Amino acid sequence: MSRITYFLTILFLTINSILLSGDVDVKKEYGFVGTKACKKCHIKQYKSWAKTNMSRAYDILKPNERTEAKKKAGLDPAKDYTQEADCLPCHTTGFGRAGGFNSLIETPQLIGVSCESCHGAGKEYTKKQYMHTKNKEYKRADIVKIGLVSPITSEMCTVSCHNEKSPFFNEKEPFDFEKRKNQGTHEHFSLKYNHD
Ligand code: HEC
Ligand code: HEC
Ligand code: HEC
Repeated sequence: MSRITYFLTILFLTINSILLSGDVDVKKEYGFVGTKACKKCHIKQYKSWAKTNMSRAYDILKPNERTEAKKKAGLDPAKDYTQEADCLPCHTTGFGRAGGFNSLIETPQLIGVSCESCHGAGKEYTKKQYMHTKNKEYKRADIVKIGLVSPITSEMCTVSCHNEKSPFFNEKEPFDFEKRKNQGTHEHFSLKYNHD
């Protein structure tokens, strides 16, 4: 066997075994559009969200922000944490995922815990044949298949961010989904159309 055939055979076998072992995450990634895109149609939710800690989640990683809280949690208040891979998964939108937060310069629309952190990456479901002013009565089940997250559950919040990996996790204060849903996300307005 020539060296090149030998090399190609090994490569083929390795790729095959990786694929068959199931270690590769083949879950579909839909890509993110950023808050401005959602704001266009959901100005009320946007304005309300903009006042929450969720929208500020990136900014508080900057030096001299939340100094007392950082000291208490054993963090360095003078340090810039805005590029720390240890912090970004819970303080930006889609960090480490396809089309997700990458850097402030490249993806300024994905800082903080924003619309798509909770509602799912929106590149696909916001196309005009789906959730759109041209299709106000879209079927929810159709867009859930292409990235919309609904319903949002308590487990999603605790599995992704409100857990012991956070320096501010307090096990004495269990995560109160109902309370947080109303105070932490944005004010809720009833939908006009039927999507069932
Ligand atoms: C071009 C307009 C448009 C854009 C852009 C848009 N939406 Fe919507 N969205 C709608 C319409 C229309 C509805 C249905 C409103 C109703 O029934 O009152 C809706 C409903 C929703 C709902 C309710 C879902 C349900 O059926 O349970 C959520 C959540 C939502 N949008 C989030 C988002 C997010 C997040 C983004 C950005 C990624 C976004 N929207 C972008 C038009 C838009
Ligand atoms: C696993 C997710 C997660 C990681 C990782 C994480 N955080 Fe957070 N962080 C949170 C959550 C959730 C909160 C809100 C806590 C609450 O109110 O329940 C928070 C809150 C904060 C606050 C505000 C505290 C206050 O009381 O005002 C600061 C500052 C902060 N984080 C900094 C950091 C820094 C710096 C890192 C990296 C060293 C980091 N976080 C890593 C989830 C995380
Ligand atoms: C921290 C999580 C979170 C973030 C961030 C968030 N939402 Fe929501 N949103 C929710 C929850 C929870 C509901 C209630 C519906 C549910 O349980 O699925 C909701 C409901 C909605 C609805 C349905 C109508 C309503 O007012 O309840 C729309 C539209 C919506 N969100 C748009 C947005 C937009 C636009 C943004 C960004 C500006 C955003 N959301 C950011 C959690 C979030």
